Amino acid sequence: MSEHQIALTINGKPQLSKVEGRLTLCDFLRGDAGYTGVHVGCEHGVCGACTVIVDGKAVRSCLMLAVQADGSRITTVEGLAAEDGTLHPVQQALRDEYGLQCGFCTPGIVMTLASLTAGPDQPDADQVMNSLSGHICRCTGYQGIRRAAQKLCGLTAEAPQ
Ligand code: FES
Ligand code: FES
Repeated sequence: MSEHQIALTINGKPQLSKVEGRLTLCDFLRGDAGYTGVHVGCEHGVCGACTVIVDGKAVRSCLMLAVQADGSRITTVEGLAAEDGTLHPVQQALRDEYGLQCGFCTPGIVMTLASLTAGPDQPDADQVMNSLSGHICRCTGYQGIRRAAQKLCGLTAEAPQ
């Protein structure tokens, strides 16, 4: 199996690694780099648990090879809270609105919402609901997640069903 040298920045830290060409980015982040906040559920792009931010965009890391991320800046859920432990606004909103149960789906949802709310434009209710529709919560804690997302985006009206 071919091996490749990759150089990434993960949560602001440089990472140099040798990886097999077939290694997925999620397995690299969890197994090689130790960012076990990246959760792996379906491994084929359906559940959203493995979502991380790659060069500013929310990406399903099970659908990307580690070699494809060479040269990228990656943020995982471990990289969101401030160094003093202050939660990222997305994490705080989920906490305030009881938007987590077992927490398995939570890192992926956090990364999607963090990406969605990072830009200058406030997302509308449709964008928020569309972004959540790509995430499966096995605990079916959707109401809390939805409340948190709406609160985060300053939306008080009921989101479309
Ligand atoms: S593990 Fe990647 S989308 Fe489910
Ligand atoms: S909180 Fe358990 S899978 Fe979503």
